[in-house]
Amino acid sequence: MGSHFLERPANEMVEIGKIYRSFIQVVRPIYVSDHLARFGHDGLPLPILAELDYPRALANAVERTRQWQDLLDSTVLLENFPSVMSDGACQPGFFAELIRATGCGLLFDVSNALVAAKNTGTRMEAWEEAVGQFNHFHAAGFDLQCFKGREFYLDSHDRALAPESMDWVIRLASRDRPGPRTTVVIEFDDQIDVGAWQQDLRDLRRRLGPDRSPA
Ligand SMILES: [Fe+2]
Repeated sequence: MGSHFLERPANEMVEIGKIYRSFIQVVRPIYVSDHLARFGHDGLPLPILAELDYPRALANAVERTRQWQDLLDSTVLLENFPSVMSDGACQPGFFAELIRATGCGLLFDVSNALVAAKNTGTRMEAWEEAVGQFNHFHAAGFDLQCFKGREFYLDSHDRALAPESMDWVIRLASRDRPGPRTTVVIEFDDQIDVGAWQQDLRDLRRRLGPDRSPA
């Protein structure tokens, strides 16, 4: 969900928290997730999601995550961000700290992590501590873009998975993990190509093996 729980006024969080909690109690979803990002600045909405300033954001993120989980009466899995700027290099450590402090979870978007690794020079292995505890994954297509002569990767969600995304999904989703089931969501939000989407799902199912039923 996109609750804006890091920045929404506390009284609004209480009100929408009641609504979400009712849904959770009735629907009993496999997991509850949210975005860990900035949706606004000085009270104005941003045109696109912005990444947290991790060192400065930790205290507020810990406090708000605890509150949000209490309001929902549920563990919340927070999704990692497709960093573009070099400051995003400390994201894996931030997540590890946040998980330790709040008991929240990680919804690991494999492609977001690959985009962040390419843009910031970090390694996928930096996520090992956080990823090893959780078993819900996202993946989507990404694109190489150019702005004022500088190339960068963008989580475009508008194409089939890159082979390295699929390889990482298979590697992570194949591991034995705690919890009753592992889930993988392949996201396709723009320029939707149903054939390419179906092919990714077929490849995922084939490579995970017959005893797996990927979502
Ligand atoms: Fe995602």
